[in-house]
Amino acid sequence: MSASPPTLSGDRSPSHEATPALPRLLAGIPSDGAMGLGEHLALHGPPPLIRGRGRRQDQERAERLIAEIDRAGLLGRGGAAFPTATKMRAVAGSRGRAIVIANAVEAEPASFKDRTLLETLPHLVLDGGLLAAEAVGADELIVCVSESARASAQSLRTALGERATRAHDGAVERSPRVRVETLPDHYVAGQETAVINHLGGGPAKPLFTPPMPFERGLRRRPTLVNNAETLAHIALIARHGAPWFRQLGTPTQPGSALVTLSGPVAYPGVYEVEHGASLASLIEAAGGTTAVLRGALLGGYAGAFIGAERLRGLGLSNEHLAAHGASLGAGVILLLSDSACPVAETARLARWLSDQSARQCGPCLHGLDALATSIEQIAEGRAGARATQRIDRLGSMVVRRGACRHPDGSVNVLLSAMDTFRAEFAEHARHGPCERCASPEELPLPRREIAPDPPPRRPSLLGSRS
Ligand SMILES: Cc1cc2nc3c(=O)[nH]c(=O)nc-3n(C[C@H](O)[C@H](O)[C@H](O)COP(=O)(O)O)c2cc1C
Ligand code: SF4
Repeated sequence: MSASPPTLSGDRSPSHEATPALPRLLAGIPSDGAMGLGEHLALHGPPPLIRGRGRRQDQERAERLIAEIDRAGLLGRGGAAFPTATKMRAVAGSRGRAIVIANAVEAEPASFKDRTLLETLPHLVLDGGLLAAEAVGADELIVCVSESARASAQSLRTALGERATRAHDGAVERSPRVRVETLPDHYVAGQETAVINHLGGGPAKPLFTPPMPFERGLRRRPTLVNNAETLAHIALIARHGAPWFRQLGTPTQPGSALVTLSGPVAYPGVYEVEHGASLASLIEAAGGTTAVLRGALLGGYAGAFIGAERLRGLGLSNEHLAAHGASLGAGVILLLSDSACPVAETARLARWLSDQSARQCGPCLHGLDALATSIEQIAEGRAGARATQRIDRLGSMVVRRGACRHPDGSVNVLLSAMDTFRAEFAEHARHGPCERCASPEELPLPRREIAPDPPPRRPSLLGSRS
């Protein structure tokens, strides 16, 4: 999916014109390939130096940057909207040399924002990652992408090469080491402890917490995991300050965000929107709809469906979306056309989510499978009279019972589908498949299941006395 013309005003009303304040992250985005280092520095100027002035000054500058991020009110863009400065302070305050991980795994099938950033504006992510590393006292930055995102990895390596040839230049010379790592392509691989597990030599499956990554993460060192877009915002906040960042957005969700808009619109793609902008204005910027809408999925496959009748006037911020049980998550906005069958789509999604379980927590492994089976039975008209109660009961048995939030997100999205499309579910339960069930599938669901565990590593027998 290509990055589309990215200016979208956050004026909350479809009729307002785009403000000159956007784009921010996507400013100067090249129509082809990546922005080189020279152009990046000419556009944004050099990032402020945090380290290299002596211990005391370095410490003060690091604390000042975290305080600025705090004042900016930056919330993580990886899905949970966690306050970035809180996590940075926790890492900076933990014992031991920290590590920073830029999470660009982007395992969400309908999300392309992190890839877009890395393929077009890699220096923005690298600036942010290095600034974050310096602020928390890390000596290592690891940028993680998924195996299929070869163009992202290549773009990063080229950008790192450019920086190496200008290592004498104070503007880009930073002390943390940087490397790029790839992770397997499956949904839970992007969860932060799964990333840490994989980088530590284990499978890309979530770890049981505590300890939390900020206290003991990769190699038992304090580890800051931030989404690639979060880091790109840090690169700009460090240059322009908190008041600039807060000029856009809402008081509780300041700034802009990258969203991936897909479904029946003329120009699907990655857009930069101000928090609070209307969905209608985004659709308008994307050339308008190409089909009648049945609804939309906000926040991706851990998000929530909203029916077409409630999309009018919808604002793209968590406080607006909360009233609909939704949130922006990692910025996925998936429009569903009227020709899709929401029950068939939900049944496919339920089975896919169940297949994505890392199969290490019983409630997730068995509960998601049972949920998927129940929804499939409704879609096929084979469910008993108590199917809905059974699904509710299964949902409550699964939520908050896993090592990660995958079951919680799955239950959230599936129950929201059943609630939003209640009439269609009731119809299927009574009469079985409808004529729309045979329509082309709309929710993108890659056919990839989590890989089976590798055989356990046998302890080395070297030196043993048998
Ligand atoms: C199943 C699952 C998959 C996730 N996948 C990603 C991902 O692909 N990229 C990402 O940045 N965060 C992902 N997250 C969220 C991360 O665990 C973590 O919260 C995030 O990287 C923190 O960055 P932020 O604070 O900048 O948002 C996922 C979480 C879950 C539960
Ligand atoms: S909750 Fe599910 S996806 Fe998360 S670690 Fe447990 S089994 Fe894996």
